[in-house]
Amino acid sequence: MKVLGLETSCDETAAAVVEDGRVVLSNIVASQHALHGPFGGVVPEVAARAHAERVSAVIEEALTQARVAPEDLGGIAVVHRPGLVGALLVGLSAAKSLALAWDLPFVGVDHIDAHVYAAHLAGFDRYPQISLIVSGGHTCLYAVDAPMQLRVLGQTTDDAAGEAFDKVAKLLGLGFPGGPALARCAASGNPSAIAFPRSAPNEKPSDRLDFSFSGLKTAVVYHLRKRGADKPLGEAERADIAASFQEAACEVLVEKTLAACRATGIKRAGIGGGVACNERLRALFAERALKAGAEIFFPPPALCADNGAMSAGLAFHRLSRGERDALDLDADPTPKRAGR
Ligand code: KG4
Ligand code: ZN
Repeated sequence: MKVLGLETSCDETAAAVVEDGRVVLSNIVASQHALHGPFGGVVPEVAARAHAERVSAVIEEALTQARVAPEDLGGIAVVHRPGLVGALLVGLSAAKSLALAWDLPFVGVDHIDAHVYAAHLAGFDRYPQISLIVSGGHTCLYAVDAPMQLRVLGQTTDDAAGEAFDKVAKLLGLGFPGGPALARCAASGNPSAIAFPRSAPNEKPSDRLDFSFSGLKTAVVYHLRKRGADKPLGEAERADIAASFQEAACEVLVEKTLAACRATGIKRAGIGGGVACNERLRALFAERALKAGAEIFFPPPALCADNGAMSAGLAFHRLSRGERDALDLDADPTPKRAGR
């Protein structure tokens, strides 16, 4: 079954065609980074408008590249939560209109479930597995028993990992989007130059699978204040701060994931979300997982960052069971599970 999947939850307009939840026939992403760059962050109104302008062309390109006609499709999937509500509504309206016009089944999928599924889509399909999702809006550790069957093991109590990268990049004057800019800057820095904190000051053993990044971000603020705001940041010093921050953030992500593997006895983990594109995170996982006897899987970067293939792939599992959503399915800006 070939499924068309759409994703417009934030600042990427994305459409893809995936066969049988596994074979990516096309994966088109129109990034809005250039539009939001001058504002230093995603502007919801600008994002929604840009999605509306681009979504038809992106869908057309996804079908053309996959060499698929509407009548070859078995269904249409769209991310309907969580995200910016105006942005979600554009994808949702497009998916519903096409489902109606082409007489196809339609399903809404959860953005985080789709990020988790990216590992399966890329071939990591043994269960149970641990999943670490690190994106601009979410940092979550799950035990995954099957696609869409997730148990929350830990989550961030404040900032998401990507949000911390973005905010520190801003403090260092590195522009938007911050994560990749900070990673580039960190490449020439010394990761041991500054000992930034690895855990929240009052972390209790029971919180050990939860994350907190606001203390780390504040430590960068204090470091910059202490050295004197009036002194211009030289290139080498900026790189040292970026590398030291990145090292602290990545170490926490790696250690907590490996702690989740130990606590559950599940010695395999898939990593997803935009921060999973980070090269240092990938290298540190490779180093430490070996010692811990855990298998760590990273999907290719195109499946880690927001994309339509992960929603098309995940939706296959619902569509093939005959499940459908009604055409009054609404956009929902809030995450599905707050607790555990
Ligand atoms: O999953 P994603 O594409 O969108 C959300 O669902 O949020 O993740 C975007 C986040 C942003 O915070 C971005 O700065 C971060 O992922 N990111 C990175 C890298 N590439 C993207 N963070 C660190 N290093 C990277 N190479
Ligand atoms: Zn995402």
